[in-house]
Amino acid sequence: MLHVSRRRLLGGAAALALGRPAFAQGAPLKVGLMLPFSGTYAALGENVAAAFELYLQERGGRLGGRTVTLVRLDDESDPAKAPQNVNRLLERDQVEVLVGTVHSGVVMALVQAARERNVLLIIPNAGNDAATRELCAPSIFRTSFTNWQPAYGMGKVLAAKGVKKAVWVTWDYAAGKESGEGFGDGLRAGGGELTQVLTLPFPETNFQPILAQLPGLGVEAVGSFFAGGSAVQFVKDYAASGLKEKLPLCGSGFLTEGVLKAQGAAAEGLQTALHYGDGLDNPKNIVFRAAFQQKTGRAADVYAVHGYDACQLLAIGLDASKGDARAIKPMAAAMEAAKIDSPRGAFSLSPSHNPVQTIYLREARGGENRVIGIAAEALADPGTGCKMG
Ligand code: BEZ
Repeated sequence: MLHVSRRRLLGGAAALALGRPAFAQGAPLKVGLMLPFSGTYAALGENVAAAFELYLQERGGRLGGRTVTLVRLDDESDPAKAPQNVNRLLERDQVEVLVGTVHSGVVMALVQAARERNVLLIIPNAGNDAATRELCAPSIFRTSFTNWQPAYGMGKVLAAKGVKKAVWVTWDYAAGKESGEGFGDGLRAGGGELTQVLTLPFPETNFQPILAQLPGLGVEAVGSFFAGGSAVQFVKDYAASGLKEKLPLCGSGFLTEGVLKAQGAAAEGLQTALHYGDGLDNPKNIVFRAAFQQKTGRAADVYAVHGYDACQLLAIGLDASKGDARAIKPMAAAMEAAKIDSPRGAFSLSPSHNPVQTIYLREARGGENRVIGIAAEALADPGTGCKMG
């Protein structure tokens, strides 16, 4: 006969009424991976997912004493479909933890669900500033960056080189806009100025009208946020326009991350700022890169690092709650106190649950984003508006 305690029965009934699965010690834990597996950010989503899985495999497929099942959902980087996609994971698939996503617009539906339902959300890429500023919550954590952070580092480096005026070229959505703000803040901190932001809609790639304007703007440098397949085209178009030698192009490191081989000679010499770089000489990175290469046949990049660290952070939370993904308090306490042994170098989280991390200055050389300096040491996002106490 199966004995189910009254408390457990009632707990189960209450959970069902709320449309969420009851926690049963030892039962498999479903984790929803909502990521782009198609479109311009497809390669980013694949690397996040593969590295998340890599860490899970290193843990024998178990976290907090429970076997973990991953449920993958392609969000297509489409904000319009995001609320429905989140609902599918929570209601149809009954996942207990949300991990996602790459795109700063899409992540807002995940943030909303995590806040409203008090579900644990780990953001493994999307840099939307608000998620760890005014929309911060005890159940929301990020293992990547805010859009502000890498771009701030790049602006700071440019200003230190004596650049007085620069423009920002990007897509017209949160990641582009917020990285432009970071770039401007970095420039201003060193006595420079962001004079203009030029945009096109996401994910369009007709860069010619913008490229045609650049020589007439009276600036000394061009900063940029693009990523994935479209960053390949932007960097190639920039070089083909003949601007590369006249008006140095730089940016948040996503501009050349994971796409250098495809960009070829057009990217050679470009400087970018990011919290990761090829050839970072720490033991964790060396082991991680070899394991990722063996698992996927691809070289690791920052997106893989984000995914790996998302699973490391989840493991810390679930170990603390003994596998109860609904026990936000003990999970959050352990995750807040954690020092993550990341391939980027060890990092901890700010009070608003965003990495405090070193932003490296990199230069593209021979197919690698080589680290050539430090753009900003132990950089925290300003975290403005977060009221978690
Ligand atoms: C974003 O939308 O937040 C994003 C997308 C790709 C790379 C970096 C950030």
